[in-house]
Amino acid sequence: MKDPYRQLVRPLLFRGVTLDPEFLHHRTMNLLTWLGQPGQSPLAARIRLWLRQQFCFSDPRLAQTCWGLDFANPLGLAAGFDKDGTAALAWPLLGFGFAELGTVTCYPQSGNPQPRLFRLLQDEAVLNRMGFNNQGSAALADRLAAYWASHRPSIPIGINLGKSKVTELADAADDYRTSFQRLYPYGDYFVVNVSSPNTPGLRSLQAADQLGPILAALQAENSAGKPLLVKIAPDLAWPDIDAVIDLAQAHGLAGMIATNTTIAKERLKTQTLLQTGNRVADEAGGISGAPLRPRSTEVIRYIYQRTGGSLPIVGVGGIFTAADAWEKITAGAALLQVYTGWVYEGPWMVPRVLKGLLAKLEEHQLPNISAAVGLSHRSQVDDLANVRPSR
Ligand code: FNR
Repeated sequence: MKDPYRQLVRPLLFRGVTLDPEFLHHRTMNLLTWLGQPGQSPLAARIRLWLRQQFCFSDPRLAQTCWGLDFANPLGLAAGFDKDGTAALAWPLLGFGFAELGTVTCYPQSGNPQPRLFRLLQDEAVLNRMGFNNQGSAALADRLAAYWASHRPSIPIGINLGKSKVTELADAADDYRTSFQRLYPYGDYFVVNVSSPNTPGLRSLQAADQLGPILAALQAENSAGKPLLVKIAPDLAWPDIDAVIDLAQAHGLAGMIATNTTIAKERLKTQTLLQTGNRVADEAGGISGAPLRPRSTEVIRYIYQRTGGSLPIVGVGGIFTAADAWEKITAGAALLQVYTGWVYEGPWMVPRVLKGLLAKLEEHQLPNISAAVGLSHRSQVDDLANVRPSR
């Protein structure tokens, strides 16, 4: 059987309302947390070996060094899956080139009421309004201190920071700074998340006058010069993206993550949610997966063009296949992340995408993945209409 997940597991797991997506998520996290623990049973050790054999695909042409960190391949786990870092030691077993923990906030918080996570099967999408449910940055720091004491993961680990719901927008910089200080020893890179649609007012922090003080506060604490990135929403208009790019450059950020989920729900095929019976258009939350793909690629293309490729971009939004990944890399993404595609396609997606990327490199006679970053700009230098479309 070539892909037991798609042939056997997914049809069982995706059975309408019978298996709640959040329930399944927690069970998956429990399993991965157990598998990641060092020094566990012989059974777990055998499963770990099997996971490595199944999912870890390596080739020197997929490797690159970015921000002084070594990435064995460009495909990472996106923020939101492992908010509390419990499975931090398991992600390398699944073939990811890096993993981003969080979003974590200064104070622990339970997030929005359930149900708050929905699959839109016809759209190959997910709607979520989790609302940064997490145990808080102090708990994450304690956990990572314990994990790292016995075993530092073989892949770069990012930590994504958000603002606590109870913190006033005016005090956001202090909230981010406290989490940054607590977690500083444990992350290889850090992300300022100002783009979740599920914390009231959070996305207003993308405005230059609010984002500037947050970035300044974090960079003032950044004694070792660790890479600091900002993650943006796909729903920003071009001038707002310009403003974030200018700030990123002014504050010496290492790069940008494009994009978070979208609040645009107009073009979805799914009309009503099975769980609530409500119209999708009336449900709060952000959409991820296939419907987000074109807009996130468009934003990546725009940032790359606007910065002349000088600011590394982490591309995320609707990656399911090697073709999706290639499109984002050639649009300008140096690194990629996936969340929804991994849920729909399953864990064999990772080696499938990596092998597909290698085939693309060979097809285009390119020596390595770095040579493909921004390729579409070099083959379409005259096609400026391609760069600043629709909004
Ligand atoms: C997310 N995402 C997210 N992003 C983030 O920065 N912090 C977070 O806590 C979360 N939480 C979260 C929960 C759920 C259930 C989903 C589906 C997504 C957004 C995620 O990291 C990514 O940017 C988008 O989902 C787009 O990528 P995919 O899912 O289309 O591959």
